[in-house]
Amino acid sequence: MNNTFLAIDIGSSAVTAVIAKHDLDNNINILGTGIQKSNGINKGLIINIEEASKAIKDAVSVAKRSTTEMIDTTVVSISGSYSKSIRSSGSVNVPNGLITETEINQVMQMALYNATIVPEYEVVHVVPIFFKVDDSVEVDNPLNMNGSRLEVSVYIVTAKRTALTNIKSALKISGIEIVKFVLDSYASALAVLDEQQRKFGAIVINLGSTTTEFVYYKGNSIIFNGFIPVGSNHITNDLSVMLHTPPTAAEKIKLEYGSLTRNYSPNNELGVTKVKIPRIGDEESISEVALDYIQTIIHARVEEVLVLVKNKLKKSGLLDNTGSGIVITGGMSYLDGIKKLTEKIFDGIPISISNPKNIKNGFMSFDEANMATIVGLLFYSLGTNRSYQLDSSKKLIKPLRKDRVVEPKISVTNTMASEKPTMEMNMNNKEHIQIKDNGAILTPLIKDKKKGVSKFWSKVSEWF
Ligand SMILES: Nc1ncnc2c1ncn2[C@@H]1O[C@H](COP(=O)(O)OP(=O)(O)OP(=O)(O)O)[C@@H](O)[C@H]1O
Ligand SMILES: [Mg+2]
Repeated sequence: MNNTFLAIDIGSSAVTAVIAKHDLDNNINILGTGIQKSNGINKGLIINIEEASKAIKDAVSVAKRSTTEMIDTTVVSISGSYSKSIRSSGSVNVPNGLITETEINQVMQMALYNATIVPEYEVVHVVPIFFKVDDSVEVDNPLNMNGSRLEVSVYIVTAKRTALTNIKSALKISGIEIVKFVLDSYASALAVLDEQQRKFGAIVINLGSTTTEFVYYKGNSIIFNGFIPVGSNHITNDLSVMLHTPPTAAEKIKLEYGSLTRNYSPNNELGVTKVKIPRIGDEESISEVALDYIQTIIHARVEEVLVLVKNKLKKSGLLDNTGSGIVITGGMSYLDGIKKLTEKIFDGIPISISNPKNIKNGFMSFDEANMATIVGLLFYSLGTNRSYQLDSSKKLIKPLRKDRVVEPKISVTNTMASEKPTMEMNMNNKEHIQIKDNGAILTPLIKDKKKGVSKFWSKVSEWF
């Protein structure tokens, strides 16, 4: 076991693969990266196994080109589009009066056992919302506490078995047999939230190409997650249909002129009011379209997405207390004026736009909004900001000892010159950090079956 892992974000516009390694000093070395335009994937679902397999294989092969390390673990993002989440709770006695990982595992397994999982769904995460020792206040981490009874309240994410099986099939041709699944929006939250936001709670909205996924994150837990099957590609489609222009031209217009707030009225200070666009079916013929008309089309679609998210959050009751506010990420967060429109729709709630933080390396730029999921997968694998929880194989995984971790500090080296980039974690006390996070600690309970059961983006845009 040398802690080398492969993270794969299967997005609807791109598949990103990263091979990384972490050592006992908690340094992460990015050993290789690969990115491919997605095919056979829509709204986070694999709709053509052959095409998706090829996109994944190509991304993984490119990542593998720069390393010969054997991969121990593979983590793969899954979309909220085929997930269902429920809450549950469990409690166990503490026979020796001291809570160890044995009791933590038992209580988590008990909470899972007590949950009714829909038969065609599989468990992806069992994350503690809080623990209680005897009748104590809520605690984040009960390890080494004294008590006679341990309780836990958990958030369980499950995903449709057929969707997971399709991902597994698509990974097979890359020789990947065993994977851990991680919910896309959970990974995004791990990547973009800072310590204060995690402490007071925050909503993260990942505006992707075909999906908008959101999560309420507090402490070390997800409390709610949701999904809207609309993303930035819908803007492109709208422009293509309304302006009778090919999708490639529509995408270009969106990226170049897309804005929710810019003044495109006659005599504006930008000095542009119209653009020339090709007509669909007859690309020789060019027509002129007013930019304020384009703006109206874009505005209508983005407003619709944000209102749908707001309604779902309102229904969940979480809008009454958003903690530190809403953080937007994902490719569509680059749209000019998105912050202003979100502020208007979520009246009074603080809004910020955030890219994943702190990972730089010689292969690719990670501090881009569309990198939130892949960076979150790396943090998940490392154990950063993770609680004790059950992973998708229902095994207990440990947190990285947060009290000793300061934000990751990265040193950058030129990998093209065959030097490996490193991400150094800045610690107060390195020797106490636990990082062998993915190993099984204890076996799960067997359930009675009957009981309910920018830089980067300019590259991607070339593909359109
Ligand atoms: N300036 C911009 N304005 C609007 N949309 C943009 C802009 N820049 C990038 N995008 C959009 O971001 C999307 C890609 O974002 P991202 O990589 O987060 O999606 P994805 O993860 O592949 O998709 P999904 O999450 O739906 O599976 C594309 O649809 C692209 O057009
Ligand atoms: Mg995405």
